Amino acid sequence: MSNVPILSAHHLFKTFTLGGDSLAVLKGASLDLLAGKTVALMGASGTGKSTLLHLLGLLDSPDQGTILLDGKEVQNLSQSASSKLRAEKVGFVFQQFQLLPELSAFENVLMPRRLARGSWWNRRKQEQERAKEALESVGLGNRAKHRPTQLSGGEQQRVAIARALISQPALLLADEPTGNLDAQTGDEILQLLLQLAREQGAACLLATHSAAVAAQCDSTFILKNGELHPAP
Ligand SMILES: Nc1ncnc2c1ncn2[C@@H]1O[C@H](COP(=O)(O)OP(=O)(O)OP(=O)(O)O)[C@@H](O)[C@H]1O
Ligand SMILES: [Mg+2]
Repeated sequence: MSNVPILSAHHLFKTFTLGGDSLAVLKGASLDLLAGKTVALMGASGTGKSTLLHLLGLLDSPDQGTILLDGKEVQNLSQSASSKLRAEKVGFVFQQFQLLPELSAFENVLMPRRLARGSWWNRRKQEQERAKEALESVGLGNRAKHRPTQLSGGEQQRVAIARALISQPALLLADEPTGNLDAQTGDEILQLLLQLAREQGAACLLATHSAAVAAQCDSTFILKNGELHPAP
């Protein structure tokens, strides 16, 4: 595995302005993420962890600073180029699962492949096989037809993990992925997420309030006053 970072963020700034008030959330945050390494992102509530993940996952743009994803500068890309790159390179797991309620578990997992490049009709069989394998890899081969409301919280998060990893993304971002689960289920989900990320060689950044979760990662960054500091 090379030591060239999958993701390199340099000097990111982000200010939100609402009703005349402006709030500088990120004030020069920098970090590198390496293939196969999992990094915890900690910091008090409201310090900007989710904001940072949204920037790194190309869901929002920084006011200043550079982001290199797999060697490509992302901040000046058009909306559509950015969406394509995100679909290919980034998997995102949210605290609230964010599954599409009208779709089955299988269809939710398949969705990123439907959005991928190339003729869907020509690749549909292999993509369906891939979704089946992804569901099996999270232990839910027997829940393919269930809709999100027919699944437990832990099962919904497993579906979300399968969806995040089906395209074998170079970068996996997880925002408090166990925050809505009981301790035991949360621990199982965390083990699964870290194991699959490591197996796939993804660079993984995981926001968490739990020191126990952070201890399972290879290293930790703390977000404070808009900047990132490596934990001692
Ligand atoms: N779209 C937005 N418009 C205005 N302010 C925002 C917006 N998004 C976030 N903020 C503000 O930015 C700050 C950082 O929010 P963020 O959600 O990134 O924090 P966090 O570290 O993820 O917190 P938590 O640990 O509670 O999830 C908060 O004070 C929030 O109110
Ligand atoms: Mg947050």
